[in-house]
Amino acid sequence: MEVGFLGLGIMGKAMSMNLLKNGFKVTVWNRTLSKCNELVEFGASIGETPAQVVKKCKLTIAMLSDPAAALSVVFDKDGVLEQTGSGKGYIDMSTVDPETSSKISQAITSKGGAFLEAPVSGSKQPAETGQLVILAAGDKGLYEESIPAFDVLGKKSFFLGQVGNGAKMKLVINMIMGSMMNAFSEGLVLSERSGLNPHDLLDVLDLGAIANPMFKGKGPSMLKSNHSPAFPLKHQQKDMRLALALGDENAVSMPVAAAANESFKKARSMGLGDLDFSAVHEILKMTKD
Ligand SMILES: NC(=O)c1ccc[n+]([C@@H]2O[C@H](COP(=O)([O-])OP(=O)(O)OC[C@H]3O[C@@H](n4cnc5c(N)ncnc54)[C@H](OP(=O)(O)O)[C@@H]3O)[C@@H](O)[C@H]2O)c1
Repeated sequence: MEVGFLGLGIMGKAMSMNLLKNGFKVTVWNRTLSKCNELVEFGASIGETPAQVVKKCKLTIAMLSDPAAALSVVFDKDGVLEQTGSGKGYIDMSTVDPETSSKISQAITSKGGAFLEAPVSGSKQPAETGQLVILAAGDKGLYEESIPAFDVLGKKSFFLGQVGNGAKMKLVINMIMGSMMNAFSEGLVLSERSGLNPHDLLDVLDLGAIANPMFKGKGPSMLKSNHSPAFPLKHQQKDMRLALALGDENAVSMPVAAAANESFKKARSMGLGDLDFSAVHEILKMTKD
């Protein structure tokens, strides 16, 4: 199966590499084209533009930073829209809002193409090991055709119905995750400032009802102020912002998420946006008696 892949950031690089390792023919494109070279070493071909990739491949996957990037790759000159049409499938796996996804869906389907949104739960490591959770919605036929690729990329895929449902599910999940990261960071700071050993806190947490892979995986590196990016903080803040907008539309009061968003915004304003979202811990550590 020949697959096009647009966007070779932290996630896209790992995902396209997995497809290559599992026997897919992959044609890649990235805005910064030089990032394609590493994939070429593993057998990928390069498309000079998104349009070129779509022209060559029946199925094209995108994994881009945010709504602006997702829209630009489809609608701009040499974009996806120029070559989509009957027999072409386009799957956007970026985390965006339902409106962005619907806009893309409408444009693709009005040209006769098939569209699926398929954001993912899981970060850099699950992307590398093919253990993502795929939250698809849109064209059911395209979903079924894409299962061989989803089986390589993820450990489980869901089909959630109409376009927008995948985006909503992903935003709810990341809103919860962002709030948890803030609560966790506050707990680490409080334990340390009140004279406890925060490593003991990690051990106790891990044995109780609120044990989870995120606390276990990120806690030790957070205590060393190691925030090398798996999920960049700027993207977590984007997801909080989009989730809060979804809350506004649905009149859902979300004071916890709003507070978490403020912490992420503050961290971004201090230049921590490219670090892992765990770097929000650094701004909480700065508060003094
Ligand atoms: N990292 C995670 O743990 C994780 C987990 C689940 C979901 N996600 C979501 O997955 C998506 C990608 O995340 P990531 O961590 O891989 O991000 P990333 O490392 O920042 O990569 C972003 C990608 O988007 C491209 N891009 C940015 N603006 C663009 C534009 N205007 N036009 C074209 N391309 C553009 C970048 O190209 P350049 O290389 O040229 O900058 C890069 O390929 C995001 O929506 C994120 O929220 C991430």
